[in-house]
Amino acid sequence: MQIDVIMNQKQLSLSVAADEFLADTLRRYGFLSIRKGCNTTCCGLCTVWIDDKPTLSCSVLSARLQGKRITTIEGVEQEATEFAKILASEGAEQCGFCSPGFIMTVLAMKRELVHPTEAEIIHYLTGNLCRCTGYLGQMRAVRTYLRGMHP
Ligand code: FES
Ligand code: FES
Repeated sequence: MQIDVIMNQKQLSLSVAADEFLADTLRRYGFLSIRKGCNTTCCGLCTVWIDDKPTLSCSVLSARLQGKRITTIEGVEQEATEFAKILASEGAEQCGFCSPGFIMTVLAMKRELVHPTEAEIIHYLTGNLCRCTGYLGQMRAVRTYLRGMHP
């Protein structure tokens, strides 16, 4: 079947199978920032925005997204680069496999939460796993980013 979406601010027509999940559709169409770490809604690596809400693309059927607005890291490149530089400066970039999904969650949090507490930040990021960094560098980067103190 064919669905029409707004993909990173542009109209796009996608041909999708009835049982296909969005993560697979997007990778098939060349959005290779989408990573799959678990395929069971546990790791957050496949996070994209659907109508501006961070969503696990491994758990959403593409066929249900007619008319929706989908954003991947390719669609917020400038902001993502800004935060990625902070991640690197805090030594939290490591292998980078989790970074696109993590960054999409952080950018969404910046839009959604006003002056979040430490507990609110941790709660928002709970679904994004990283097997390299131990999270302390990531948390320093998030705090720096939210304070607007960019290197
Ligand atoms: S691949 Fe989607 S949550 Fe892990
Ligand atoms: S940086 Fe390697 S999994 Fe997060």
